Amino acid sequence: ERQRLVENIVKPFILDDAVYKRVCDVMLDNFNKGLGKETNAEARVKMFPTYVRSVPDGTEEGDFLALDLGGTNFRVLLISLKGQEVNMESKIFLIPQHIMLGTGIQLFDHIADCIYKFMKEQKIEKKTLPLGFTFSFPCKQLGLAKAKLTTWTKGFKCEGVEGNDIVQLLHEAIKRKGDMEVECLAVINDTVGALMSCAHSDRQCAIGLILGTGTNACYIEKLENVGLWDSDYNDPKEVIINTEWGAMGDDGGLDFLITEYDKHVDKHSINGGKQIYEKMISGMYMGEIVRLVLEKLRRNGLLFGGVGSEELSKRGRFYTKYVSEIESDVDESDFKSTKQVFEELELTNYTDEDCRIALYVCSLVSTRAAYLASAGIATLLNKMGRKDVSVAVDGSLYRFHPHFHDLMVEKIEKLVTPGIRFKLMLSHDGSGKGAALVAAVANRLRDEEA
Ligand code: BG6
Ligand code: GLC
Repeated sequence: ERQRLVENIVKPFILDDAVYKRVCDVMLDNFNKGLGKETNAEARVKMFPTYVRSVPDGTEEGDFLALDLGGTNFRVLLISLKGQEVNMESKIFLIPQHIMLGTGIQLFDHIADCIYKFMKEQKIEKKTLPLGFTFSFPCKQLGLAKAKLTTWTKGFKCEGVEGNDIVQLLHEAIKRKGDMEVECLAVINDTVGALMSCAHSDRQCAIGLILGTGTNACYIEKLENVGLWDSDYNDPKEVIINTEWGAMGDDGGLDFLITEYDKHVDKHSINGGKQIYEKMISGMYMGEIVRLVLEKLRRNGLLFGGVGSEELSKRGRFYTKYVSEIESDVDESDFKSTKQVFEELELTNYTDEDCRIALYVCSLVSTRAAYLASAGIATLLNKMGRKDVSVAVDGSLYRFHPHFHDLMVEKIEKLVTPGIRFKLMLSHDGSGKGAALVAAVANRLRDEEA
């Protein structure tokens, strides 16, 4: 009886393949709309063409700075390139909440401060260094080093940045700080960084995927399919498109599968009505979805004998890493990690049956996320129509969840056109190495032109 009541509450998370196929159809519509010249203005999934063209040819040399902003950690990096050899130093800096929600000036002044501190520590503050910027937010690229933020996503909302060129904002802050010679030569999205760093060693790599705080993908598209491309004299044959797929569903296109929990998460987020697909998948939101389900079960007397805790009832308190930890409990007879999470949440009134149900809820929510992301990847693979494709993947959700990779492989296989083969591979430090490589190429091309 208890099981039946639990099933009733979690059932909206169990979706069959027909539903995921429908997600693929919606996704394809969104992609085509975004790519079309006439339809892009009203499209939610923006399909931004990037300016990353030339790939590294191994002749790039020298020291480069890189910034990595928008994931779990803000990092400043120093990358030394010498042929195939890549050396890296990096440091994580904190961005306090009041800055994430403050003004753009405060944010970029803070970034300039961190760059300066890092350079001092590395004893390179006297050097003139080119910089590559991994800025993991939707940007309309107007050049390799000119990118207008269209809208903040995830946990950021700084005033006065949307609609502006973030390279200019960075350069102004560097100037205000004074005492350093740093020039930003390239801005890239984290998906592009992941793609670049894998493509370096794998020629079949043609998709970059992030499953972390947020989710997004980029891929290599034939120019003729990019209606919104403004032709110039030096057109490439293919362009990397940053899909910004997290915005799928913002027009109601996913309402056929949205649950009350998704609606609740959206309503209490700082960007209500936006990034609907992202909110059903990524790490910034997954733990909260689980928490809402657990709370509902508890209120109905189906968990913890109806007795919760203050911690469990706090919004945002159930971290996505808990989902990974709980699902790592393979040996159901001891539930070691699950019990540890319960202790951290100051729950005292639990039984093994509660552990089993919590694990079940986690696995349903994360499986739905993995399958939804699979629908996105399958749509890209089918659209590209290549025979063999490697997908470069990065992000904490993919790295730390015990089954995400396997769940995705299983579902993509079901959704993809027969004959298409794919590999999901972990990308190493795309945001550092990728950004530095792109900056290095820009630097080389500039020197060649001079
Ligand atoms: C990291 C990259 O490995 O993955 C970041 O350095 C990227 O640039 C991130 O944004 C995505 O994952 P998360 O989990 O940190 O948001
Ligand atoms: C959000 C951002 C996107 C980024 C993704 C992963 O969706 O809008 O630019 O790639 O998060 O970090």
